[in-house]
Amino acid sequence: MVDYIVDGNIAVLEINNPPVNALSIHVREGLLTGIQKANQDGSVQAIVIIGKGSTFPSGADIREFGKPPKEPWLTAVGEAIEASEKPVISALHGTALGGGLEVALFSHYRIADERSRVGFPEVKLGLLPGAQGTIRLPRLTGLAVAMRIITSGDHINAPEALKYGILDKLISGNLLQEAKTFAKSVIGKPLDNRRLSKIAVRDAATVDKHFDEALAEVKRKYKGMIAPVNCLKSIRGSAKLPFVEAARLEAALFRELLTSAQSAALRYSFFADRSAPRWKLPSGASIENTKPDIIKSVAVIGAGTMGSAIAICFIRVGIPVLLVEQNDKLLQNALKNIGQILQGSVKLNRITADQRKQSLQILRGETSLDIVSDVDLVVEAVFENLKLKQEIFARLDKICKPSALLCSNTSTLDIDKIAVATNRPGKVAGMHFFAPAHIMKLLENVYGTHTSPSTVATIMDIGKRIGKVSVLVRTCDGFVANRMNRMVGNEAVFMLEEGALPQDVDRVLEDFGMAMGPFRVTDLSGSDVGWRIRQERAKEQGIQLTYETRFVNGERYSSLPDRLYELGRYGQKTGKGWYRYEKPFARTAYPDPEITDVINSHCRSLGIERRVIPPQEIIERCLFAAINEGFKVLEEGVAEKPENIDIIWQYGLGFPRYRGGPMFYASQVGLKTIYERVCYYYDAFPHSSYWAPSDLLRKLASHSTEVPIDQWTSKERSRL
Ligand code: 3HC
Repeated sequence: MVDYIVDGNIAVLEINNPPVNALSIHVREGLLTGIQKANQDGSVQAIVIIGKGSTFPSGADIREFGKPPKEPWLTAVGEAIEASEKPVISALHGTALGGGLEVALFSHYRIADERSRVGFPEVKLGLLPGAQGTIRLPRLTGLAVAMRIITSGDHINAPEALKYGILDKLISGNLLQEAKTFAKSVIGKPLDNRRLSKIAVRDAATVDKHFDEALAEVKRKYKGMIAPVNCLKSIRGSAKLPFVEAARLEAALFRELLTSAQSAALRYSFFADRSAPRWKLPSGASIENTKPDIIKSVAVIGAGTMGSAIAICFIRVGIPVLLVEQNDKLLQNALKNIGQILQGSVKLNRITADQRKQSLQILRGETSLDIVSDVDLVVEAVFENLKLKQEIFARLDKICKPSALLCSNTSTLDIDKIAVATNRPGKVAGMHFFAPAHIMKLLENVYGTHTSPSTVATIMDIGKRIGKVSVLVRTCDGFVANRMNRMVGNEAVFMLEEGALPQDVDRVLEDFGMAMGPFRVTDLSGSDVGWRIRQERAKEQGIQLTYETRFVNGERYSSLPDRLYELGRYGQKTGKGWYRYEKPFARTAYPDPEITDVINSHCRSLGIERRVIPPQEIIERCLFAAINEGFKVLEEGVAEKPENIDIIWQYGLGFPRYRGGPMFYASQVGLKTIYERVCYYYDAFPHSSYWAPSDLLRKLASHSTEVPIDQWTSKERSRL
């Protein structure tokens, strides 16, 4: 894994561990023996470390974490590099990250391809650069820059790294040749001033000020996360302690993180990110064996907030869009809004003024559906009503060319019921964007009974092209996101009836790490939408909903949200919802005594006695209900694997990444506990049938030892 090549008086250690040259055990062994060999070889006067293939090492091997560690540690390898009496030059290209950058910081010189990037992304894995990265980097860059690089995990481009002193030279030509030439030029020069362990942190006197500022920043930015705090403590150690003691402190802080639940969740998330877009259908069709169609043009039907934001997703990556809205006034408003949103992106330096112009040039607004006859893909984004969608799909089927894909942005409706309105069910699928669609990363792609593999391949591919995290799910009521999240909403409202207030529920879930509690989310999206859906469903079933309604079809129902609607409290847009706001559209939510009165009088009128609801119950009722549903989603094959569910929650529903997602969280709580509590709540709330425990959960919980999350699907599902 490390080739030892001698060219004249230069030894080259070439690391060969594709795809990213991770510093796995054999690479560490190879580097150590290579350094020892070069030092013993009388003909060698300098050593070059370089990566084969596309990159210098991009870090430690993440798959080795969590397994028993094997020597030599990276630090021991690094110390041998630094102690070498012959100059060691690291020659960087691609992405020199984490342990890779640490190898470079142990080296006496660092040169890099001018297109390369360096960084310490450990914090994103809930770790710190634990092979002396936190105590070596400040010696080159000073404290403020080191704190920023290490706590952000961001990649730094080579010219910037040169400016900060991380690199000694940029190379535009052949890296290996230039590295050898460079190596020859430093033979015989003193090395002690090149050994970072011998150099002081130049601004050590100001460490407390930097530490306090950076700590305040990371606590605000990375609320609840321990890794950024440990990074800062270790960097502070680099300035306050002698080198060896600082290294000891770093090792202790690293160990604490390595064994933390947060790091386990973040490492799981790293691999889940890569696994979720790899789709596979029960038929065996998969990303590996199915080619996507080429999409050159798109029509978006419906120019409301959602449709407009979806149009932006396509035009900003150069895919022309026809935006169709019946009403010209609404259409013109939408086009104006899109222009303004893109202008906002220019102001935030996300795109250039030129890119905005080019995007708008490929957007065309139309008031007639007939115009979409030639597009490759249609995304329908009209009001959530099955009949309306069926009508539109039937018309689209007649108008569009036979090869066009017809997709719906429905968030709940069964794709099969939409597909039957067409003569091309194989080309019908769901593309469920999350609001605001131009910002939210998730795309929940939905296949129905008849959706063809090439349609699936195409929507997954286009999702990637527009920069989304695409996850494939099978059609069902609410798919994965809304189906599971419905339990959170239901339980949250039921707990208001039983004794909690909106701010109690939100605070507990936000302290858990959710981006927003369910009541703040409802206020943001507007409670009128939910009211209309409930009324429509009741009408379809011939049910009259009143304030006294406590059961619908035998299921528990709360009319509290309906009371809010009747009071005109639609949320932020009306300045009042579950919270009060200073004015319509203001963002700061204040608890509202009026809401407490509404809830109390609701309970009095229905004879419900209120009680104190402890935080643990809030967590269990919201999350365990959703987790139980998640197991049903798995056992039905709606989601292929738990990672898919977790990625949907992370990118679409604000679940804290450092907890992995509801399914990973369940694995950490333990399935026996989850199962027992689900049974307990089912006993307590028999009129909420979603508490009926999932068969898959029951089976998995019955094992004498915990079944690892990567075995939750295939084996158990087939045994059910
Ligand atoms: N360990 C193990 N596997 C890794 C890995 C690593 N450090 N980095 C990437 N991989 C794997 C990926 O899982 C993927 O495998 P797959 O094909 O089986 O899914 C494959 O390598 C290719 O990775 P990407 O799909 O991410 O490739 P990209 O080209 O898009 O990105 C990258 C390359 C920027 C290097 C990106 O992979 C990355 O950010 N990797 C992680 C870097 C990192 O976190 N380094 C720090 C590790 S911790 C550490 O070093 C501790 C030390 O301080 C002691």
